Amino acid sequence: MSLAHPDQLFCGFRVATMASSGTVLARYEDGKTAFVQPDGSPLQALQVVVGVCGGKIEWIGPESILPAEGFADVAVIEGDGRWLLPGLIDCHTHLVYGGNRACEWQERLGGVPYAEIARRGGGILSTVRQTRMASEDQLVADAGQRLQRLLAEGVTTVEIKSGYGLDRETELKMLRAARQLQSRFPVRVVATLLAAHAVPPEFAGRADDYVAMVCNEIIPAARDLCSAVDAFCESIAFDCDQTERVFRSAMENGLQFKVHAEQLSNMGMAARAARMGALSADHLEYLTPEDCAVLGRHGTVATLLPGAFYTLGEKQLPPVQALRENAVPIAVSTDSNPGSSPLVSLLLAGNMACNLFGLTVEETILGMTRNAARALGLQNEAGALQPGFQADFSAWEVGSLAEMLYSPGQNQCRASWIAGVARSVH
Ligand code: NIG
Ligand code: FE
Repeated sequence: MSLAHPDQLFCGFRVATMASSGTVLARYEDGKTAFVQPDGSPLQALQVVVGVCGGKIEWIGPESILPAEGFADVAVIEGDGRWLLPGLIDCHTHLVYGGNRACEWQERLGGVPYAEIARRGGGILSTVRQTRMASEDQLVADAGQRLQRLLAEGVTTVEIKSGYGLDRETELKMLRAARQLQSRFPVRVVATLLAAHAVPPEFAGRADDYVAMVCNEIIPAARDLCSAVDAFCESIAFDCDQTERVFRSAMENGLQFKVHAEQLSNMGMAARAARMGALSADHLEYLTPEDCAVLGRHGTVATLLPGAFYTLGEKQLPPVQALRENAVPIAVSTDSNPGSSPLVSLLLAGNMACNLFGLTVEETILGMTRNAARALGLQNEAGALQPGFQADFSAWEVGSLAEMLYSPGQNQCRASWIAGVARSVH
């Protein structure tokens, strides 16, 4: 086989997932996820070389594929036995917001429930007040601090939602702030419009009127600043019919859509969104086994958010076993936000996914790479080490994959690259 001449060569790494053309190396077997080699055997550690050209993975394979005479004029990156993974993907965050909600957290410690705080105008609406007051530059500066924490953990793609503006001007300000973060930091930002996050005070008691404004004014105005639309379907937010109207408008405006669903109760919206073609349904503690079958049939990603489950002290666990049985792709994300999940660590979310939800290490890493890419519609370009994909990598000084996740607070990511360019965030 003759190999195309790379401009970068990554050698001496152990890889946690890889694929040569046409071979999927992370798949469900007997209801469990395993990383597998082309011959189907489980992947433990394999010395590989990765050729990168123009910021994309050109080819990948065992070291024996290298020509005996080597390549001239190639930048060689030596792994020294470190693990090479795809850059991690945090596929559900609310990283841009004004202020914080530490006071409300204290109230919740004193026994006041999250939904009660929301009903009396706190919760999401208190962040809305602070976000409306903040300048775009202030939002970028604050979110930039949080973003750097994620980048240091090998995150190369991050989704950022609006949703603390709830008026046209502030929703657009948040999306522009997300775009600015992409130009200021070495990261790929995927922006999502979440104008249907809560009913704003100006529309109290008139949720349908607000939904009409979201559909007719905010989504068309935001369509060039985002790639998807999200909505919060819950008794304290929007009902299923309102959520469906928002998604129809997204489709009419050429945008994809996803949903915050079945977090505090079962509204049936995850399955309904899956039937409409949603990229993902997120939270899902109250998802039923029947809903899981619908998600599986439609290929909708189930994004699990253990940080919110942990912070809100929820008791209802998402139906992980039914998700597995229905081959639903599972993603894991931080849900980083000032109220229900003030985490700025995807590794911590991964640890919680294992400890609280019972995911395996492999399922969790799959959920922070390949399946997270799928939740963003990026499954053909990111989230896997595969020819033709972006050369987004993270390198880990660990003896096993489990070591990445088992020790909260310990970040063993030593280097990362985005489109083949080394980043200095470690
Ligand atoms: O994903 N569930 C709704 N939205 C956020 C919470 C936002 C907030 O409390 O500020 C979530 O958990
Ligand atoms: Fe969220």
